[in-house]
Amino acid sequence: MKLIVEKDYDGISKKAADILVSEVNNNSNITLGLATGSTPIGTYKEIVQRYKAKEVDFSNVKSFNLDEYVGLEGTNPNSYRYFMNENLFDHINIDKANTYVPDGKAKDLNSYTKEYDKLIEEMGGIDIQILGIGTNGHIAFNEPARELSVGTSVVHLTENTIMDNARFFKSLEEVPKTAITMGIGSILKAKKILLLASGENKREIIKKLLENDTLTTDLPASFLALHPDVTIIVDEAAYKG
Ligand code: F6R
Repeated sequence: MKLIVEKDYDGISKKAADILVSEVNNNSNITLGLATGSTPIGTYKEIVQRYKAKEVDFSNVKSFNLDEYVGLEGTNPNSYRYFMNENLFDHINIDKANTYVPDGKAKDLNSYTKEYDKLIEEMGGIDIQILGIGTNGHIAFNEPARELSVGTSVVHLTENTIMDNARFFKSLEEVPKTAITMGIGSILKAKKILLLASGENKREIIKKLLENDTLTTDLPASFLALHPDVTIIVDEAAYKG
């Protein structure tokens, strides 16, 4: 795994945007793997600025998001579809029909999750995947557990994640307890992976990830060690050398 340490959140956002924009400019039909959460917001802002400066064109780009809460409509401000529209898709020239976020309202969740992986495959796979990391080491919503799913699946969120996410909801009760998430195998199929982490609250987990040399379902991000092209971009607050 390659490590890049930037001074601050702004630095991470610029660096990640540099990489993404250059990937899109090298391949106008690229398929992006996108994440939500606080961490990539700055990256998306940078990308929007570069689009407005005519430095990049998304007209033929496709995207797949990592996850979505079960039960939330895309029109719900807490849904990840809404987040993506607000933070990125509404401000660039991507065709919304080419943007895929798991459908939290799918009727048959089991068959839906299988279809999601199939669709990614049919579209030629993800070229570059953006990831954040949970304070408990989750990637997407693959939570520390005895077993981890290979493909996209429905998962129960841990107390830790529910608490972490509560800041976006009016009350703890409103935070969904289940989500659809791409699996560890779906993530590892991406050709290139960029994991972003910022702030002191990520320092402990980043240290653990960088020092870790075993594959363990207790640390879902440990499976990234199996991938040949992972870049971790952190700021000084999230990294203690
Ligand atoms: C979001 C996702 C999550 C977040 C992680 C970190 O699509 O898959 O794994 O990346 O929870 O969240 P933030 O960036 O809010 O600290």
